Amino acid sequence: MNESSGLPQTAHVIVLGNEKGGSGKSTTAMHLIVALLKWGKSVGSIDIDSRQQSLTRYVENRKNWAEQHELLIPHPNHRTVALGSEGHLRKDEDGEFAAFADAVGTLEHTCDFLVIDSPGSDNYLSRLGHSMADTLVTPVNDSFLDLDVLGNVCPETLQFQRPSQYSEMVSQSRKRRFSVDGGEIDWVVLRNRLSPLSSRNAKRIEKFVRELSHHLDFRIAPGVSERVVFRELFPQGLTLFDVIEDESGNDVTMSHLAAQVEVRALLDTLRLPRSHTVSASFHSGAGPSAAIR
Ligand SMILES: Nc1ncnc2c1ncn2[C@@H]1O[C@H](COP(=O)(O)OP(=O)(O)OP(=O)(O)O)[C@@H](O)[C@H]1O
Ligand SMILES: [Mg+2]
Repeated sequence: MNESSGLPQTAHVIVLGNEKGGSGKSTTAMHLIVALLKWGKSVGSIDIDSRQQSLTRYVENRKNWAEQHELLIPHPNHRTVALGSEGHLRKDEDGEFAAFADAVGTLEHTCDFLVIDSPGSDNYLSRLGHSMADTLVTPVNDSFLDLDVLGNVCPETLQFQRPSQYSEMVSQSRKRRFSVDGGEIDWVVLRNRLSPLSSRNAKRIEKFVRELSHHLDFRIAPGVSERVVFRELFPQGLTLFDVIEDESGNDVTMSHLAAQVEVRALLDTLRLPRSHTVSASFHSGAGPSAAIR
């Protein structure tokens, strides 16, 4: 944020979002976090999917694994924001807002990047998170059923018909963000878990994603294939970057290398500000949290 304004910079916020569950948000979040740490950046992470807490568990597994095996690997500064439990909508939302603002407030002036992992459903916290994104990454499983969460398509012509509720929510977040601080949300959709075999269906999906991108104004990242290596790393809290670049104790396979190439292509597409740094001594009210106040 404030990259072009000349004002002191605060954390660049990356939000992982998609109302469809199981599309790869938490897995992608952890890979982005570690990639940024390996750039030498300080990274804050916030899990607002407090029901599942997959990212929180991933970060904890990483800490435990590093301790047990005396690995010198970098870690994010992590927070989990709990859902309100009063059973009263207004009170719960007030509590969630306070907890989220507190988490963001402690990280936005001390971390270069802030990665927020959201739940696979619409809720108040998810909308708060989306409205402060600089970069929104939406992984989608490569099927028409999953793409329906972005927009409706005519089954015959494959032409766009109308945005889905999730895309409407992103559109509102963009408007809100722009009205608050003139900032823009760069929305990038990632086709995840691609089948290694090219098929007629895959080509139809590709065409449809392009159609969606024109109507919904998002950029398309090169896809990430379905690979078992992504599922194996969670218990150790490791990512492809750790396995390939560090002595993590895992054998490096062709599958790891091929998967890392795909994740790097995602990083390139995101065009994250690599030189972005935040002065640890800078404290002011202006920062990503201004977008939700
Ligand atoms: N490219 C991939 N190849 C194989 N498995 C993957 C890939 N990406 C994610 N997975 C697996 O898919 C499952 C769902 O991934 P993940 O938990 O990251 O999705 P999510 O969008 O965060 O889900 P939720 O909406 O429930 O929070 C996990 O078992 C994960 O290991
Ligand atoms: Mg998740």
